[in-house]
Amino acid sequence: MSARQIIAVSNQKGGVGKTTTTVNLSTALAATGRSVLVIDADPQGNASTGLGVDRTQREDDLYQLVSGTITIEQAIISTDIKGVDVIPASTDLSAVELELASKTDRNNRLKSLISNINKEYDYIFIDCPPSLGLLTVNALTAADSILIPLQCEYYALEGLSQLMDTVEMVRAGLNARLTIKGVVLTMYDGRNNLSAMVSKDVREYLGKLVYQTVIPRNVRVSEAPSYGLPVLLYDMNCAGSEAYIALAGELIKQEKKNGKIS
Ligand SMILES: Nc1ncnc2c1ncn2[C@@H]1O[C@H](COP(=O)(O)OP(=O)(O)OP(=O)(O)O)[C@@H](O)[C@H]1O
Ligand SMILES: [Mg+2]
Repeated sequence: MSARQIIAVSNQKGGVGKTTTTVNLSTALAATGRSVLVIDADPQGNASTGLGVDRTQREDDLYQLVSGTITIEQAIISTDIKGVDVIPASTDLSAVELELASKTDRNNRLKSLISNINKEYDYIFIDCPPSLGLLTVNALTAADSILIPLQCEYYALEGLSQLMDTVEMVRAGLNARLTIKGVVLTMYDGRNNLSAMVSKDVREYLGKLVYQTVIPRNVRVSEAPSYGLPVLLYDMNCAGSEAYIALAGELIKQEKKNGKIS
């Protein structure tokens, strides 16, 4: 099996599909027999909700872990999705940036916590909040790579240079091995020309960094979280599920090519 890889799903733009990609890509990879840990690093707690973790189950959350109140074993909980565990987030996590700000190890906390995980996971996904604050910097410092969802809309590329500057800053001072895993186009609407235009522009600009798989705008994808389910378990045959399965296949292929898995 593969060595563990840590992937931060990040884009400081809000609502571009970070959480949806984290939840559904994790589920699709777990369906192939791989083990996945999702770290919900967003105080909104949407990844926790999307993975079916009730708000009442979130007292032991990432905030408690980062603050040192609980151990990593206490923080990791299993979900109803076979092969997927989660470190959930509650709204308490919003206090973490302020608390970490004065600490000398403020950028490395998550990295050292992850290094204490005993269970062997094939993938650890970190769902980042829509900001470039300390939570995102912690995620990028802990990660091997960054996966960037880009929404197929007019301003898709706007803000990307700021994200790349942050990646460069992290590489320069905190985590030299950080790579760009890839860019995934989300919420593609085949009925409108804008999606096609944006997709073409992004591919011209970013080339091979962009995955072939495009995630379509699909109402089933947006309905699934209200049932606490990944779309793959909500409606396995819808276009959104098929796209996330294809994206998982592309990731696996990419890793085989890079010699990361056998
Ligand atoms: N492929 C899709 N088809 C339809 N709706 C989608 C799709 N992907 C995401 N959505 C919806 O768009 C909204 C934003 O998605 P999501 O929460 O994944 O974005 P995000 O980048 O994590 O947001 P935030 O920045 O707030 O964390 C959600 O309501 C989600 O259900
Ligand atoms: Mg989110």
